Amino acid sequence: MIYNEIINGQKIYLRMLELDDCKQYYADWMNDKAVNQYLESRWTEQTPARIQDFVKSIRESTHSYMFAIIFQNRHVGNIKLGPIHPIYKYADIGYLIGDRTVWGLGIATEAISLITRFGFEVLKLNRLQAGCFEQNIGSQRALQKNNYTLECINRQKAFLNYGDTYSDIYQYAILCDEWNKMKEA
Ligand SMILES: CC(C)(COP(=O)(O)OP(=O)(O)OC[C@H]1O[C@@H](n2cnc3c(N)ncnc32)[C@H](O)[C@@H]1OP(=O)(O)O)[C@@H](O)C(=O)NCCC(=O)NCCS
Repeated sequence: MIYNEIINGQKIYLRMLELDDCKQYYADWMNDKAVNQYLESRWTEQTPARIQDFVKSIRESTHSYMFAIIFQNRHVGNIKLGPIHPIYKYADIGYLIGDRTVWGLGIATEAISLITRFGFEVLKLNRLQAGCFEQNIGSQRALQKNNYTLECINRQKAFLNYGDTYSDIYQYAILCDEWNKMKEA
């Protein structure tokens, strides 16, 4: 789906991801083992053409939005909201900061905050949810900082592409009511 407005934050802004963003640097992020170790896309070698097909399918979908994260005028990562359940009004969120030079600057934390506001205030959703590998402490921390609650642990649901053991997946979510209370506080 397309949303043509900019979502402004303090140090970053979100804008719709364009086909023109699907360049080699973006494929390089997706093939970087440090970046992709927790992403399902890691099972396929990524190319600009493959990424373009994916971005096109999201833009044309009736259920998902994908934004570029812009920091200091640079595209440094992406954040997705969807698929949206059309009846129950919940959606998944997923994100990556592909440019490793900007890790640890609070960018994922702010991007989650902005997409959460978009989900509740613009799309009028009731619930947003995200799943993380148990090892992905940075991602869990960014969700916790946005008041997402750890709701359950799906035991041995997936495995990383190294090692020989299954990992647990931690499921986080936030409700619209909780978001509103947080804003009032
Ligand atoms: C995980 C990821 C999104 C974090 O992005 P980021 O912009 O560096 O995160 P932030 O700077 O907002 O950090 C959020 C918190 O996590 C902590 N953190 C970040 N990376 C961490 C790591 N590797 N280990 C431990 N803590 C970490 C930060 O210190 C911060 O906590 P604090 O404020 O208490 O110090 C980023 O590393 C990334 O995109 N990784 C690859 C893709 C991925 O894992 N996506 C998420 C899939 S669920």
